Amino acid sequence: MSTTNQVVEGLLEKFVDRTAVVGVIGLGYVGLPFAVEKAKVGFKVIGIDQNPARAGMIARGENFIKDVDDAELKALVDAGLISAASSFDLIPQMDAVVIAVPTPLNANLAPDLSYVVSVTKSIAPHLRKGQLISLESTTFPGTTEEIMLPILAESGLEVDKDFFLTHSPERVDPGNARYTTKNTNKIVGGVGPNSLAVGMAFYGATLDHVVPVSSAKAAEMVKVFENTFRAVNIALVNEMLLLCDRMDLNVWEVLEAANTKPFGIMRFMPGPGVGGHCIPLDPHYLEWKAREYNFCTRFIALAGEINRSMPEFTRDKAMRVLNDQQKSLKGSKILVVGIAYKRDIDDWRESPAIEVMLELEKSGAIVSYWDPFVPSFKGHGLEKSSQELSAETISGADMILIATDHSNTDYEFIVAHAKVVLDTRNATKNVSDLSKVVLL
Ligand SMILES: NC(=O)c1ccc[n+]([C@@H]2O[C@H](COP(=O)([O-])OP(=O)(O)OC[C@H]3O[C@@H](n4cnc5c(N)ncnc54)[C@H](O)[C@@H]3O)[C@@H](O)[C@H]2O)c1
Repeated sequence: MSTTNQVVEGLLEKFVDRTAVVGVIGLGYVGLPFAVEKAKVGFKVIGIDQNPARAGMIARGENFIKDVDDAELKALVDAGLISAASSFDLIPQMDAVVIAVPTPLNANLAPDLSYVVSVTKSIAPHLRKGQLISLESTTFPGTTEEIMLPILAESGLEVDKDFFLTHSPERVDPGNARYTTKNTNKIVGGVGPNSLAVGMAFYGATLDHVVPVSSAKAAEMVKVFENTFRAVNIALVNEMLLLCDRMDLNVWEVLEAANTKPFGIMRFMPGPGVGGHCIPLDPHYLEWKAREYNFCTRFIALAGEINRSMPEFTRDKAMRVLNDQQKSLKGSKILVVGIAYKRDIDDWRESPAIEVMLELEKSGAIVSYWDPFVPSFKGHGLEKSSQELSAETISGADMILIATDHSNTDYEFIVAHAKVVLDTRNATKNVSDLSKVVLL
């Protein structure tokens, strides 16, 4: 019988000499780049995704994520360092199991932990002595210990003794070339000291800097705080935008000038809403959990209210802009430029641009879009393909609405051919003639 110390030592050795087999559950925007990062330095990585089509693609070395290099993934698959399947029977082969499945909200803005629970239930019957299980999905403080642990404990194995459990929130910033998985500081909190030590060794084997915190719960709180910080500050500049609109002030001019202060200020920009899978969702995980403590997170509620109102405000402003052209929104042709949820990425899910398009269509506008990163999309009741960005398509629209400010876009060309432009991102700031441009 091996002692806990021997189990820990055995795992640490495997992380150091890279003989550990790494499992990644959920091969999406977080899971796939992580799998590549681990395989690149020599770990054998087995991915499990419930979507057999996605698992099949990765097993063939076919990439679908912009931040992952096609050739690199193919080479790692061909070298046998990355494999993928849909079966949890593979769990016993793994020494460390990283979970990166979705944590959405339901229709009432309450956490939907069904993916995390389902994965944990699928792991539990296969759990073996000497494994590290690490949750990377963003969630409310307490998930790892209060929800996952009781399910894993049904295996009869004891946490921090037979197996190790950590929370290590993912901080990936899609499209960010400077900060990648490898050089972004990684937070780790363990359910017990051995879990923390094993988690630190696991992540430390490939990442530049790992930051320990005292518990899994603290690690969960770190991540939701980070995203709450962003949501609240974005709401603040959005509120400034709403006031500047009434006061006939240019909010971008005000913010750019404020940002010249060398201390005590931080750059946040307003826009047609917040997007992505983190900022609009994660603060509500905390808001929901706080209720258990009879605590009302008022900043979160207010930030959510302001940020969620921005697509409607954008629709109303579009109506005013067209009104000035003697046109009604109903029946007008609007070409939306950029629909990804932020600049230079291809992810349109949870994008405020989609909300804006829905609002415009609800009011009777005829909406098309151009986005070089999103050739087509189907979701939220819409199904559209990107238009060609020609002088004809631009001049054929009653209004151009810039929703996402991709950097490879010729704004001079767009403005030159447009009848009128509603710019929700100040993307046209360097255009020579701004007479046809209205800022949000
Ligand atoms: N995308 C980001 O920028 C980002 C950044 C930081 C944190 N996060 C968090 O990371 C987590 C994952 O996000 P993502 O963007 O990678 O999601 P994603 O939708 O891109 O990928 C999730 C994957 O999990 C798979 N999956 C779902 N249920 C499964 C199950 N039961 N078993 C196996 N696979 C299953 C899905 O098929 C999908 O491939 C979320 O909690 C998210 O909040 C995301």
